[in-house]
Amino acid sequence: MSLVDQLQTLKTAAFGDIQTASSTQALDELRVKFLGKKGLLTDILKGVSSLEVSERPKIGQVANDVKTEIQALYQEKLGLLQTQERDAKLKEEAVDVSMPGYVKWTGLRHPLNQVLLEVQEIFQKLGFSVKEGPDVESDYYNFEALNIPKDHPARDMHDTFYLKNGDVLRTHTSPVQIRTMKAQTPPIRIIVPGKVYRCDTDVTHSPMFHQVEGLYVDTDVTFAQLKGTLSHFLKEFFGQDKKVRFRPSYFPFTEPSTEVDVQCVKCEGHGCNICKRTGWLEILGAGMVNRKVFESVGYDPDVVTGFAFGLGIERLAMLKYGIPDIRLFYENDKRFLSQFGLSQSPLVAAMTAPTPAMPLYPSKVQVK
Ligand code: PHE
Repeated sequence: MSLVDQLQTLKTAAFGDIQTASSTQALDELRVKFLGKKGLLTDILKGVSSLEVSERPKIGQVANDVKTEIQALYQEKLGLLQTQERDAKLKEEAVDVSMPGYVKWTGLRHPLNQVLLEVQEIFQKLGFSVKEGPDVESDYYNFEALNIPKDHPARDMHDTFYLKNGDVLRTHTSPVQIRTMKAQTPPIRIIVPGKVYRCDTDVTHSPMFHQVEGLYVDTDVTFAQLKGTLSHFLKEFFGQDKKVRFRPSYFPFTEPSTEVDVQCVKCEGHGCNICKRTGWLEILGAGMVNRKVFESVGYDPDVVTGFAFGLGIERLAMLKYGIPDIRLFYENDKRFLSQFGLSQSPLVAAMTAPTPAMPLYPSKVQVK
């Protein structure tokens, strides 16, 4: 076959291949195959040296034309394939900007923790510091040292869980009074948050609940200071406009003892089902530390005096937020929990709004 024919055959083959190339990569391989330094065109041109000198320019001309035509087709096809490939890539990487975003869930404070922190903050501003003690207590710390001897009727009020070895699940946070006084000397100004346990359960009672104990011991602590401190606390917590009253009461570890009531948060003292028509809510037990208690921790009751108080966190939270059933605190239903907690950004709050299946709290449902 003459060189011209060979060049024509090459051109036909190259055109066919280039037209059917399906990717820019395949196309590039064809360019190398036909036009590359070691390609087929170069191969054919090697034969030029064996030609007559007079024939060489003609072949050179044909070869150049073939090369130019293949290159032109190559460029045209390249543009086409590049466009196709870019379109395909864009389609694959397309972002649907109308898709809803991912909500970043942030934790919220449990309502009981929220209330506990509020209580702590009020007392910390008065110079009280936070102490804790064990949930499993000996009979001595839970009862004996608090002037509740074995046969004392007050033991019946506590519905105690006893352990096999005679220890108890503490029925109140008061044992931490004893532990602290034994370990420190006055002045003592502590509050003691913690879990307590009583064998009792209904919509307002749970076998495990939370108390905060308070204890202030120094020389010359007076009942007037007790009244001032607890009135201040209740007004800070429930509102400055609320009235507070002190009723005589009895606790073995305080003498005199008092129960402290706040004007009903719902009816403002007129009488409703929350306050059992009395206009008042019982909030705190309190009193002046009994001389017997000072004796059991080795303090001289003629030198030191003090007051103590105890309150239930669940009860405070239920009254403040109008929560009708104590079990809601422990079930960890997100629809309930997401209605509390202050550390939420407005955006997250909007995106995580509770589903309307459950009523909002504070609700119209009332605490018995
Ligand atoms: N410990 C008592 C209770 O659980 C409350 C209380 C504490 C009363 C301190 C007086 C002083 O009922």
